[in-house]
Amino acid sequence: MSVVRAFNWKFLPAVVRAAISMRGRISFGRHRRDDWLDRWLPLVKERAGVLPILEIGCGRGEDTLALVRENLAVTALDLSPAMIAAARKVAPQAQYHCQDVRAPFPIQKSGVAIASLSLHYFCWAEFQGILERIRNTLQPGGVFLCRLNSIRDVHFGAQGGAEIEHHFYRVYGVSKRFFDESDIRKAFADWRILSLEETTSDRFHLPKVLWEVVLERP
Ligand SMILES: C[S@@+](CC[C@H](N)C(=O)[O-])C[C@H]1O[C@@H](n2cnc3c(N)ncnc32)[C@H](O)[C@@H]1O
Repeated sequence: MSVVRAFNWKFLPAVVRAAISMRGRISFGRHRRDDWLDRWLPLVKERAGVLPILEIGCGRGEDTLALVRENLAVTALDLSPAMIAAARKVAPQAQYHCQDVRAPFPIQKSGVAIASLSLHYFCWAEFQGILERIRNTLQPGGVFLCRLNSIRDVHFGAQGGAEIEHHFYRVYGVSKRFFDESDIRKAFADWRILSLEETTSDRFHLPKVLWEVVLERP
């Protein structure tokens, strides 16, 4: 009997419903577009001025592309040569530096810095040190757009692992920090918080709960 004839067609609506609901959970290995930066582009354009935007941990360059498409100059860094190569392919207009975020930044002054999900690998003291260097790189009135893992990011390790420090765990061999609102307010106590929201991103293979934070250097 053919597969088509053997299929019990009365179950079709349930199968379609299941497929639709699974689409939100499975990306079959492909990254989906995550347009979180779009609503901030007017602010980014206003504050960037003529200086390049500093992008920290650019990964595959999804955010880099969103910026260069708007004719914004971007200097991006990432620790991984493979990520830099991938980003260079999608957004060749940007300047790239393969380096650790803990090394001196490739630019000294900027009106805008961006770090999407790239600042959670560090102990609190190192994390604070990086934030201070970002702050010092920004001109007064400069903005920092940042996304940080939420403590509710259960698909990506927030259930725990060996705790190294408060909210800082060993997750599948990697040190990973998760944030609650009070961690964020503490980290950015000397910044002006323009926006602070907990939200979910579909950029990865499972929904990822994160904090989207927009800060201004006073
Ligand atoms: C989760 S990915 C996020 C990538 C991209 N920003 C995004 O939102 O899609 C984290 C990125 O940070 C980079 N990274 C990890 N540790 C780093 C370090 N110490 N210095 C610079 N980049 C680092 C990784 O190579 C990776 O590309």
